[in-house]
Amino acid sequence: MNYELREITGNLEMQELAALERQIWNSDHVPAELYRAMQDEGALLAGAFTNDNILVAFVFGFPTRIPGVQHSHSLGVKLEHRAAGLGAKLKWFQRDWCLAKKIHTVRWTYDPLRLANAKLNIAKLGATASQYLENYYGTLTGINAGAPSDRVMAEWVLNDPRVMARHFGEPRTIPDAPEINTVNDEHPLEINLELQTPYLKMRLPQDYSSILSENPDLALGWRLHGREILQHYFAQGYRIAEFTLLGGAGYLLEKMPQS
Ligand SMILES: CC(C)(COP(=O)(O)OP(=O)(O)OC[C@H]1O[C@@H](n2cnc3c(N)ncnc32)[C@H](O)[C@@H]1OP(=O)(O)O)[C@@H](O)C(=O)NCCC(=O)NCCS
Repeated sequence: MNYELREITGNLEMQELAALERQIWNSDHVPAELYRAMQDEGALLAGAFTNDNILVAFVFGFPTRIPGVQHSHSLGVKLEHRAAGLGAKLKWFQRDWCLAKKIHTVRWTYDPLRLANAKLNIAKLGATASQYLENYYGTLTGINAGAPSDRVMAEWVLNDPRVMARHFGEPRTIPDAPEINTVNDEHPLEINLELQTPYLKMRLPQDYSSILSENPDLALGWRLHGREILQHYFAQGYRIAEFTLLGGAGYLLEKMPQS
């Protein structure tokens, strides 16, 4: 299917956006009037439209207190249109839009346990993450109900060589690394907090979204497991640098040079 990617404009499209957002997250949404005002003040609202001009995906980012840095609050793709590259296309549209406005960095929070987000943000876009936000949004409803809303902050430095390489589809190198945690049949087991090698691998569940909706105890177990690992290794100077499906889904953590 062909999609047109463009900015979302006018009150009718803002209302369509608010309705799409509610459908994707199955929870409260940003009011259309607020979208309108934020766009006038410099926020990005862009969407993917079908041939019939129906909005099926969107990205929303707003200016921050730091000049040149945008906070991207949401990216959503209607269920029937997922895994077809639309999320990535909208993010590359966002990159072009930002660079044209002298914005050099875009950052956003995401749930580190969700594979779709991990793959898109880290593997496809070349973002990194080194900040852990415990229960950032408090108790959430809809697709996020059931576990504390821990997030990591993805940082996307738009002209960084790693981002350019992803933009041009260059092959990635994933070095071998010792595993921090063991996983058995979607259950998190042991954690090793003593590792110090330049690269480490953190295993992830294959389908956290299903776990969250079907097994709240296991979802909480994974949440606390992931929190312990990432808080510990971020504090030791590591960052999430890669995502891989090889040998089980997981992140590659990379030790950052000391400044
Ligand atoms: C996250 C989201 C925006 C991704 O959109 P998308 O259009 O499906 O993503 P893309 O197709 O561009 O690319 C994502 C990559 O992850 C893969 N992917 C998608 N869903 C996946 C899943 N559940 N598990 C593993 N990989 C997945 C895609 O196959 C693609 O990789 P590929 O090109 O190598 O095949 C979409 O899943 C969504 O709207 N989720 C609900 C809202 C949300 O969580 N938004 C993000 C936080 S604000």
